[in-house]
Amino acid sequence: MRTAIYPGSFDPVTLGHLDIIRRASVMFDRLVVSVMHNQNKKPLFTVEERMAFLRRTTESLPNVEIASFDGLLADYARREGACAVVKGLRAVSDFEYEFQMALANRKLNPELDTVFLMTSAEYMYLSSSVVKDIAVHGGSIAGFVPDALEAEIVCRTRKEG
Ligand code: COA
Repeated sequence: MRTAIYPGSFDPVTLGHLDIIRRASVMFDRLVVSVMHNQNKKPLFTVEERMAFLRRTTESLPNVEIASFDGLLADYARREGACAVVKGLRAVSDFEYEFQMALANRKLNPELDTVFLMTSAEYMYLSSSVVKDIAVHGGSIAGFVPDALEAEIVCRTRKEG
């Protein structure tokens, strides 16, 4: 059983994240998509809301589990029996930071490798912040987030923004 963890803030999940989830789910027996705490960010959606969004949009993928964790990714991966962390690489600018994280995680957990999937070209520019920024300024986020979540994300973003 090969388990991988796809960690992130997912505030909120976008079509770019779902693209990575779908592709990683065929590479591993079990994929744990985990909503993690990033101490540099102040999220708009609660952990429970972010998990619910992820659950609703991944229910057709039987080997994908949605979870959350607060702490070190390297320790969490060990506890989950994961052999890999999955991350999406969007641009060269992502590389340096991701490379540093991958090396630090492997130092902390030598059994843990990081697998980078190149984000599909149509999602190169996408991030959760871009989605929230478009929504708060009245733009359309159709084609950026799953259809089923669009209205809820717009409503919350404008209320809080
Ligand atoms: N499609 C769309 N957006 C993508 C994407 C993709 N394929 N890949 C990344 N992004 C976006 C994310 O939505 C995020 O957007 P935002 O900044 O607007 O929120 C941004 O790119 C950065 O993504 P990422 O680098 O994955 O950061 P993150 O905040 O989502 O997750 C953690 C970072 C949680 C994985 C990291 O902080 C962590 O591992 N924390 C645990 C503590 C720990 O172990 N620290 C030591 C690590 S060495």
